Amino acid sequence: MIIVKTTKEFNQARKALDGTIGFVPTMGALHEGHISLIKKARTDNDYLIVSIFVNPTQFLEGEDLDDYPHKDEADIKICELSKVDILFVPTIDQMYKNDELSIAAPVIRGYVLEGAKRPGHFDGMLQIVMKLLNLVAANKAYFGKKDAQQLSLIMQMVRNYYIQTEIIPCDIIRDERGLALSSRNMHMNPEEKSRALCLSRALRTATDMVTSGNLNSLSIKEQMLGILQDADRVEYVAIVNREFQETEEIEIGNTIVLVAAWVGKPRLIDNVWI
Ligand code: PAJ
Repeated sequence: MIIVKTTKEFNQARKALDGTIGFVPTMGALHEGHISLIKKARTDNDYLIVSIFVNPTQFLEGEDLDDYPHKDEADIKICELSKVDILFVPTIDQMYKNDELSIAAPVIRGYVLEGAKRPGHFDGMLQIVMKLLNLVAANKAYFGKKDAQQLSLIMQMVRNYYIQTEIIPCDIIRDERGLALSSRNMHMNPEEKSRALCLSRALRTATDMVTSGNLNSLSIKEQMLGILQDADRVEYVAIVNREFQETEEIEIGNTIVLVAAWVGKPRLIDNVWI
């Protein structure tokens, strides 16, 4: 595995690769969720590139940028064991210059839910993903459905800007009790982790209701809110189509049910695709 820190070194290492390339962009503190993307990219392609960059432009004022977990040595070990070919770990000055072009998330998908709660977050996320996709020029790039709205916006950006990389959506990885894995879970104590299970429990209730024939969004959301009382604060429960527009009725094959809630220090998100 080659570890590179500058775009210049990256370009040199990238030029030497002759074959199909899979790319997994991350912010580090790698867990089984990231590893599932890395494994898939490894099997699908001749070469595997992973980036670790805690992107400052997608954190808002007062968000947890300074607290964001760093586990550099463990991350390097995981990448080595996963047979990564190039690990790209740039510093901020490698990725950003002063006075840059900006990119704005579109209104429909970009300014509801996460976009409404974290204004500017998706603009910064799209900016770095655009830079990384262009720099890496992979055949395929892998993203988790855990960040459903992020995934949807990236797919739209790739379509709108004719980016040549194919985006591969990957399933959400959970622990044995159902908690969706997230780098932020480490900020919860055991009691909070138990309460955090209400997110996946609420989503399971939603799928159970759909399976038993109830497609009414309002009644599903009411049931979910009851279960989510174990959280410290629920930020939203939403039932949307793949365009992220709220729907009154669940349409099987075109619906995502999403939750955002605070449990202890972290703000958690989870969802299920129906
Ligand atoms: P990060 O939160 O590190 O996540 C990197 C990738 O791992 C994302 O595609 C995310 O959806 C996926 N992922 C995280 N937890 C997962 C889980 N439990 N199951 C499956 N996939 C999971 O998302 C980002 O970084 C950044 O916004 C980034 C795209 C790197 C741009 O800065």
